[in-house]
Amino acid sequence: MNAPQPNKLDLTQRHRRNRKTDWARRLVREHVLTVSDLIWPIFLVEGENLRQPVASMPGVERLSVDAAVRAAVEAVELGIPAIALFPNTDPALRNEQASEALNPDNLVCRACRAIKAAAPGLGLITDVALDPYTSHGHDGLLLDGEILNDETVFVLVQQALNQARAGADVIAPSDMMDGRIGAIRAGLDAQHFDRVQILAYAVKYASAFYGPFRDAVGTGAILTGDKRTYQMDPANTNEALREAAQDLKEGADILMVKPGLPYLDVIYRVKQKFGAPTFAYQVSGEYAMIMAAANNGWIDADKTMLESLLCFKRAGADAILTYFAPRVAKTLKDLI
Ligand code: PBG
Repeated sequence: MNAPQPNKLDLTQRHRRNRKTDWARRLVREHVLTVSDLIWPIFLVEGENLRQPVASMPGVERLSVDAAVRAAVEAVELGIPAIALFPNTDPALRNEQASEALNPDNLVCRACRAIKAAAPGLGLITDVALDPYTSHGHDGLLLDGEILNDETVFVLVQQALNQARAGADVIAPSDMMDGRIGAIRAGLDAQHFDRVQILAYAVKYASAFYGPFRDAVGTGAILTGDKRTYQMDPANTNEALREAAQDLKEGADILMVKPGLPYLDVIYRVKQKFGAPTFAYQVSGEYAMIMAAANNGWIDADKTMLESLLCFKRAGADAILTYFAPRVAKTLKDLI
């Protein structure tokens, strides 16, 4: 028997032993963030050699197609597996029917073709929803104050086909209409696009965190009302599981939860319950909050960025859409 030492606790477990050195911390680390976890969302704008800063998202720019091609090449060089495209459509091209969504020469389709030619091995994800194309900024067709479900889904199928023909590898419906995953899967398969993946925004909340995104794509000022009749109530999680189950049944290859950090419990439950590939979206408002605080000198941008993304991994996300993607990739390279 050892004699009891004065001023010492008699502890069997001292958790700090595993934390005392860098090598030990690295060995016991449970989760790791790598460049392979990243998807880079890119905003598109009409023009040439144009990089337009988005005021509410410091460090993020809208890119003309040629600049987006250069960004895609940079993504490949950085080892980022995929990018996701979001167009800022000329207001003159927006209408009640969102007809520009079906134009084979619209901004997204031209960008897809140019990016595929320059970076064929880069995953190319396109957003299916009508909000960049409607004059009222909603994701679906609007009639007498109501967003029409089935009528919208027919248009979404055509929009998805338009994007697949332009070279999109992954179709990502973010509209939250009922039944769109099954309809889009059937539409793609019928046109021999059975290899195109569907990344379903299965769980998308009606969130105030999308504000800066709406500035970036030019829907903030025109949106009438809100999206609560189709996007989910932030109060619900059981409903999230029902949405995810439905999308998997209809043929989703990958599930998405959005927003990200305030919804880690939802990511965790969706991943635990289904074990399907589950992505998360660190949305524009989350990015803006970190950058605003960092630019005031209140927090460290790089450390907060890396910590927030690691938290997604801990919750069970397989990949994360984040506006930080190129910055993370560069930071991780420097850390090695
Ligand atoms: C629209 C869409 C939105 C986002 C992605 N697709 C905004 C919305 O639903 O109003 C938000 C992304 C972000 O905030 O970063 N279909």
